[in-house]
Amino acid sequence: MQVIIVRGKEEMGRRAAALIAEQMRRRPHFVLGLATGSSPLPMYQEWIRMNKAGELDFSTTITFNLDEYVGLPPTHEQSYRHFMNANLFDHVNIAKAATHVPDGMAADPEAFCEAYEAMIDDVGGIDYQVLGIGSNGHIAFNEPGSSLASRTRVVNLTQRTIKDNSRFFARVEDVPTRAISMGIGTILEAERIVMLTYGANKADAVAKALEGPVTATVPGSALQLHPKVTWVIVEDAATKLKLEWRR
Ligand code: GLP
Repeated sequence: MQVIIVRGKEEMGRRAAALIAEQMRRRPHFVLGLATGSSPLPMYQEWIRMNKAGELDFSTTITFNLDEYVGLPPTHEQSYRHFMNANLFDHVNIAKAATHVPDGMAADPEAFCEAYEAMIDDVGGIDYQVLGIGSNGHIAFNEPGSSLASRTRVVNLTQRTIKDNSRFFARVEDVPTRAISMGIGTILEAERIVMLTYGANKADAVAKALEGPVTATVPGSALQLHPKVTWVIVEDAATKLKLEWRR
């Protein structure tokens, strides 16, 4: 695994944006796997800057988001579809029809999950997957205990995740308790992965995922099984690492 430790989240965003842009320029119809949360935001801001400066083209890019809350329509301010439009898609030259976010309102969520996997397969799989990590070690909405071979499915959120994410809702009772999430097995099929992390509240999860055993108890540790993962970590989230990653 490649580990890049940086001083601040702006640098994290620039480094990750450049890593992915380099691959995007090599291949038309690039398939991006995208994440929500605060961690990828500095990277999205850098992509927007690059796009406006004519340095990065999204016109033939295809995207698949990791997850979505069950029960929130795309128009809801806290839906992940709304987040992606507001923080990236509305500001770059991407074709909205080529952007995919799981449908939290699907009448038959199980059938939807299967169809979502099939759509990813149909375009040849994900070229570069963007990830953040939850304070409990989750990736996407694969909570501790999720099978390392899991596929896209409906999941129950843990109390800790509901509490962490309640900062975006008026009341904790308003946070959905279920989500559609790509599985860990789905994520590991991406050709390349970048994990973005910052903040002291992530230091435990980062240390366990990078240096602990591979275990379903820490879903982020599954990345140790993938051959092309880059972690871009702001130093405040790297304080509990013990191995010599800084060379
Ligand atoms: C949510 C998302 C995850 C994300 C995590 C961390 O639960 N489902 O994909 O990685 O939160 O979010 P943040 O980057 O805001 O800390």
